[in-house]
Amino acid sequence: MSQRTVYLETFGCQMNELDSELVAGQLRALGYRFTPDRDSADVVLYNTCSVREHAEQKVWSRLGELNARKIADPTLVVGVLGCMAERDGTDLFRRMPVVDLMCGPGELDKLPTLLDNAVRTRESLLADGDEPKILAKRSARQSALQGNTSRRSAALAAAQDTLELLDLSRSISPVDFFQPDEHDHAGTHQEDRQRRSAYVRITRGCNKFCTYCVVPFTRGAEIHRPPEHILDECKKLADSGVIEITLLGQTVNHYRFEHGASISINGIQQPQKGRSFTGGHLRDPLAGTNTTTFADLLALIHEKVPAIQRLRFVTSYPRDFGDDVLEVIRDHPRICRYLHVPAQSGSDTQLKAMNRGYTVGEYIEFVERARAHLHRPELGRPLMISSDFIVGFPGETDEDFQATVALIERCRFKTSFIFKYSPRPGTIAFDKLADNVPDEVKRKRNHILLDVQNRISDQVSREQIGRTFDVLVEGVSRAHTKRSAAEAPAADRPAANTVPLSISARQAAPAEDDCSVLSRRPESTKGPAENTVQLVARTDADNIVFFDVPADSATTPMSYQGRIVRVRIDGAENLSLFGSLV
Ligand code: 5AD
Ligand code: SF4
Repeated sequence: MSQRTVYLETFGCQMNELDSELVAGQLRALGYRFTPDRDSADVVLYNTCSVREHAEQKVWSRLGELNARKIADPTLVVGVLGCMAERDGTDLFRRMPVVDLMCGPGELDKLPTLLDNAVRTRESLLADGDEPKILAKRSARQSALQGNTSRRSAALAAAQDTLELLDLSRSISPVDFFQPDEHDHAGTHQEDRQRRSAYVRITRGCNKFCTYCVVPFTRGAEIHRPPEHILDECKKLADSGVIEITLLGQTVNHYRFEHGASISINGIQQPQKGRSFTGGHLRDPLAGTNTTTFADLLALIHEKVPAIQRLRFVTSYPRDFGDDVLEVIRDHPRICRYLHVPAQSGSDTQLKAMNRGYTVGEYIEFVERARAHLHRPELGRPLMISSDFIVGFPGETDEDFQATVALIERCRFKTSFIFKYSPRPGTIAFDKLADNVPDEVKRKRNHILLDVQNRISDQVSREQIGRTFDVLVEGVSRAHTKRSAAEAPAADRPAANTVPLSISARQAAPAEDDCSVLSRRPESTKGPAENTVQLVARTDADNIVFFDVPADSATTPMSYQGRIVRVRIDGAENLSLFGSLV
């Protein structure tokens, strides 16, 4: 059993957050312990994102910071996990000798072995007796990457998909999410930190090949997990106290599992490669029928795991989103009324160049159809829709951009995540289309879209005033925490982005640094009133709500955490709602 300490930092999307959590669980089971202090860790791991260049640059600079540390401590093991490892391949060892191991997102089940090898290799290097400076430049060079096998054939995909074991590691041997012996980042009491929200993967990879996107290359072909595995995982999470589950996939509505068509290895049913969507009717796959669609899966989890009070999913693709899914959402009260459906552009020319596979008209038709099903007064609660946009994609004219403004105005999204186009080597756009919109124009368009969306977000928020919502309490608001942290000793202050992991308020947002300010968790502009504690909570439609509870109440403020309570909205500001307990 290794007693080594690991620092693990995660960049990018929710899929990465989940990967980090599963990897952490596996390493913990092997005796590794996690620390929020990078400088004292024996192993430093970065789980990386390649979607935009900026995210990669951050990792390069983090790696650069480790050079001096490695000279001082040549036993230090440094690993790059995730999309950057897959994209850069072993070239990364050459560029950054500080790196000892690399593991692509499709190979994470091999990480424990790689890490063990890397630790041993570094120890044997040390025995060679080289100068610390030379030693620091010698990488242990352990890697597991899919390389060109990532887009393999369907049969091979099923037979070789040992990665399923990583997801299954949670359901086969449920991990204790918060180890009692670990440093408590949040400075809260152990009992306050019971895990209430969790991610569950339903689909890996993507088959869409949008021309700007690296995901199909780094995460490989679309593969759907068997519904039995997903259900089992949801049940185990519910048994451990989780009440909110977010199903994850790049295009969740493409989920489709053909029963009987898959291969079983060692008695474990293997996931299936994606097929195109053909619609579907509600079926219970455990009752012996042939296909489980996304609609079936939602209904199944809702029915079989009633302890899950909130069932969410991200990300939806605007095409192939059938009425069957909308009807299941409408008819199942614990499925959240929230859709994250990236439009990317409001111009048909741009959508075509991006290979998105739908027109603006089709996108609008979907939004209207979704609202016709789910945004009706008699249903008692609103449907909120959010979107992603890329500005400055090659060839984007002023007219194209104005069409995007018009789409945002028309669809009235709750939120939009706005990104400046970032050319990614290996993608179709990088190879075929010149990055011909000047950065200055990209920046200007980014700001304009932000202003438009901010205005709409503000209106949408204000429309909620007077309504009551059941909200899931996430904890004390940042405004309140900041005030307490300023008064606390430095060692007790929270550290960001390190394990143990917990789901942040922005479940639906890609946690990117270079995307619009709208992706950041809204902060309360109102401080807590005297003798009260300000709590932050979320509606099922993903609106953030702040409300105060008395600091000296019989029920301590922290006892609200992880509970669903009812609040009435009496104020609104941009993305934030303000309410009071009813
Ligand atoms: N440049 C800018 N934004 C991108 N996205 C994906 N690839 C790129 C890129 N090359 C955005 C899309 C996607 C979100 C997760 O990231 O809007 O929906
Ligand atoms: Fe990338 Fe398009 Fe797949 Fe989304 S749907 S992950 S943008 S290729």
